[in-house]
Amino acid sequence: MVRKAPDSNSKSNGLTDVVQWDNYSLFIHDQRVFLHSGEFHTFRLPVPDLWLDIFQKMVAAGLNGVSIYIHMGATNPSRGVLDFNDWRALQPIFDAAKLAGIFVTLRPGKFDFINAETTAGGIAHWITSEVAGELRTTATDWTAAYEPYVSGIIDAVVPNQVSQGGPVLFVQIDNEFNQTPSHAAYFAQLETQYREGGVVIPLTYNDLNEGRNFINGTGAVDLYGLDSYPQGTTSACLNPTDWSPVATSYHSYHLSANPAQPFYMPEFQGGLFDFWGGPGYDACALLTEPAFQDVFYKHNWASNVKLISYYMVYGGTSWGGFPFPVVYTSYDYGAAIRENRALSDKFDELKRQGLFLRSSSEFRKTDWIGDTSTGIPGVTLNGSAAFVTLLKNPDTGTQFFVTRQADSTSTANISFTLTVPFSQGTLTLPQTTGSIALNGRQSKLIITDYTFGAAGALLYTTASIFFAGTIGARDVLFLFGDADQSHEFALVLTGAGTRSASSRIQFTNATAAGITTVAIASGAAGLLTVWESPSQLVLFADPVTAAMFWAPAIKAPTPSNDTVPGFESFWQFGTNETVLVGGPYLVRNATISNEGSTLALRGDLNASVSLTIVAPLEVREVTWNGERVDVRAEGALLTGWLTQSASVREVKVPALTEWKFADSLPEVQSGFDDSSWTVANKTRTNIEVKPLFGDGRVLYGCDYGFCEGHVLFRGHFNANGSETAANLTIYGGFSFAASVFINDRFISTVSTNAQSASDDGQLTSADILGVDHVNALFAFPDGSVVPGRDNVLTVVVDNMGNEEYPDEKSARGIAGFELVGGTFATWKVQGKLGGYTNFPDKVRGVMNEGGLFGEREGWHLPGFDTSSWTPRDLSEGLPGGGAGVGFFVTMFDLAFPRNTDVLVSFQFEEGNTQPYRALLFVNGWKFGKAISPGILDYNGKNTIAVALWALDNTAVSPSLELVIDSVLDGGVGPIATNNPVWEPRS
Ligand code: GAL
Repeated sequence: MVRKAPDSNSKSNGLTDVVQWDNYSLFIHDQRVFLHSGEFHTFRLPVPDLWLDIFQKMVAAGLNGVSIYIHMGATNPSRGVLDFNDWRALQPIFDAAKLAGIFVTLRPGKFDFINAETTAGGIAHWITSEVAGELRTTATDWTAAYEPYVSGIIDAVVPNQVSQGGPVLFVQIDNEFNQTPSHAAYFAQLETQYREGGVVIPLTYNDLNEGRNFINGTGAVDLYGLDSYPQGTTSACLNPTDWSPVATSYHSYHLSANPAQPFYMPEFQGGLFDFWGGPGYDACALLTEPAFQDVFYKHNWASNVKLISYYMVYGGTSWGGFPFPVVYTSYDYGAAIRENRALSDKFDELKRQGLFLRSSSEFRKTDWIGDTSTGIPGVTLNGSAAFVTLLKNPDTGTQFFVTRQADSTSTANISFTLTVPFSQGTLTLPQTTGSIALNGRQSKLIITDYTFGAAGALLYTTASIFFAGTIGARDVLFLFGDADQSHEFALVLTGAGTRSASSRIQFTNATAAGITTVAIASGAAGLLTVWESPSQLVLFADPVTAAMFWAPAIKAPTPSNDTVPGFESFWQFGTNETVLVGGPYLVRNATISNEGSTLALRGDLNASVSLTIVAPLEVREVTWNGERVDVRAEGALLTGWLTQSASVREVKVPALTEWKFADSLPEVQSGFDDSSWTVANKTRTNIEVKPLFGDGRVLYGCDYGFCEGHVLFRGHFNANGSETAANLTIYGGFSFAASVFINDRFISTVSTNAQSASDDGQLTSADILGVDHVNALFAFPDGSVVPGRDNVLTVVVDNMGNEEYPDEKSARGIAGFELVGGTFATWKVQGKLGGYTNFPDKVRGVMNEGGLFGEREGWHLPGFDTSSWTPRDLSEGLPGGGAGVGFFVTMFDLAFPRNTDVLVSFQFEEGNTQPYRALLFVNGWKFGKAISPGILDYNGKNTIAVALWALDNTAVSPSLELVIDSVLDGGVGPIATNNPVWEPRS
């Protein structure tokens, strides 16, 4: 039953009939779909075997789409070099998406491309230095710079488009770039390149909020969408319980902007990024907690949105040089799936909504009828604290009343009743239970004239729908509602069956033929079988119990004539068959074999749990991860027990000891030879801030090929004896630091941080941009300058990444220099080995290494021999307790049992206020806190390196531990590691 008769509405499309739309929704192969998607950046999880893990988790939440930014900077490290290898590859994304059954919106951006709190908004660093023309225009040098990258994207996309049986549904050609007429030519140029390259799926665009400036003629994309972050960005996590109200303008904006298209939100707030010095990601998770998802996401539905993607559903890690200056390494985002890939309570809410949307075909086509502010014909709301919007399916008459608090931020408990027209006249809801309750920040859909499965008829419900559909021969309806509220629904009970005997459930036979009203009294918790017969099953649970259930799509063993080739795993296209499985931490997939008698489940356990299954009646045998499970029939359910493998208790991680140490700042020792360094003698730059003072020489790392990580500058002068100080303006971006030395003497470290940026506790973009540089006088200590010979000023600058639009061409380095009492002769500059054209580590890529001496030598890489190094514990800090940079390296073995997914993190001491910064390298990757298999070798040797930068002459004592966050029995399968080892470097 997969292919259905085409809908009669007139449709539009890109260049293929496979993907079309009308004013209501999208169609894929003539099927109406609600595109329910989440954002995930593969570059933030550089282990291709784990992409399937994220996709499976998204699909398990009921999502059918994933939106993916591709990072140009990582893929196109220098002019003419396109590197779609290793974790930058696109084909493994498409293969994993197809396997999981999820449609892909690819967002190669390119033009500030992507934002995403990543350096230069995704634009390749070399462009920020080499291109003189204005970015994101039709400037010829910019066009020449980006076109090869777009060609590479096109080549990968074309064979993977939905029209070819692949998973790629949309390509978003630019991001949040105001579609004013002046940008139209640029959009048109992009579109032409995609079309000429053979991309036939719709080209889309994500407008910055309600931009009102989208293009109608030349340059117009096929499908326009807008994004919205109603809880704010930048520093909103500081006040996580302060809600902004819902935006009431969405629906009218859609009508005024693109009424012939369905309402598309390519990004809607799924969490938020945290900033240096910010409150941490748990605060961002709280800001966007389940109640936020409940109220705000359903408000989007009320605005008749039919395509939506939550930014982010899995955030991951902005490792290496990926972050833009405001954010630190973790990009957890407080998302539904946390950085260590654990499922949060936000995932549960996403699933409650996701399975409802997946179950409810009538919801895919609705007219917006009215709301409390406009009035809704024939509808009376009794309860002024409530707000209701009516959406109605014009074909089936199904009505969806989206209810919330009139003041959407209110935390009061309220109740109301609703008098509505429906198929059988007029009805006041509820009939028997008094009123409908909203507990504080809550939203509910009250539904009338809903059908489910083959013959299920639900007249109305004030309880929420978790799942509706057919399982085997039965129509199954699974409702839920808060245990401290009462709920009511009315339906036709079919077959000869049994009613629940629970005292909390009351059945009333209505006068109308065959209709039964079911009232659930407050206090009903756990899972209740309301009604069961051979043809019908009705379940009710509290929301927490409901979220313990999974509804995996069951792939047909052999595709039928109706299956769309390529879409075998896709719900709605390859299969509409499912089972309900309650208990496990995660169910990844399910198959039914042996003439329907064996149900094979795969998934993860975080504990031993009881198992509750709703399956076709023929199923008598169940396996879990290949092992038989004892199940017995308990009424309509199969129940059993899943025991977590004893081997999970063997999972241990060692203490990090036996550190070896080497100094990593030989540049400040007397006699250091920098003759091989690059002479910084350019006098022209495309970077926006031109040299401020000095003699015209450009001292920006990126102009010499050193765009990522630490860059060192050495200014030589032949002293005359009257030099007393250096006056420097140093740019590094928000939260950067720079240490300055004269010969072998430390002068001082300058830095900027959130505290200095914000005077009012709030952090605005202006605050951030205002602290991307420091001007200071670095006074030479007595006796540090030796007259009559070469003296050297050494500056170590941490480049925090480039700004996003419109400041991608960010100054990073020394914008102004003056030697008080003298003049600088030669300036030398040094950054990552080989610069962006010739860096040695092609696997980890251009973003990984910076210019610290140890990085250049490859000390962070596995296999580097530290046997000649000094034993020194990390907690002892640098020898002598002075400012400087040192490398600490240790190794340890892991031996985790097979078929476990261990979520581990590295933790530096809590609330560190000591004056140091540290870079953590895990098996050669400059990584952050949460480390996945693939980066860590779960069955072998691992190398940890810490580059410790002591910022002043104070002894520091860092501590670092490896901790287990959780051990899961199961996992996505074998994970290949690709951690190239050290080789001699020149
Ligand atoms: C959006 C942008 C995303 C990301 C987000 C905030 O406006 O499109 O790329 O930057 O803001 O996390």
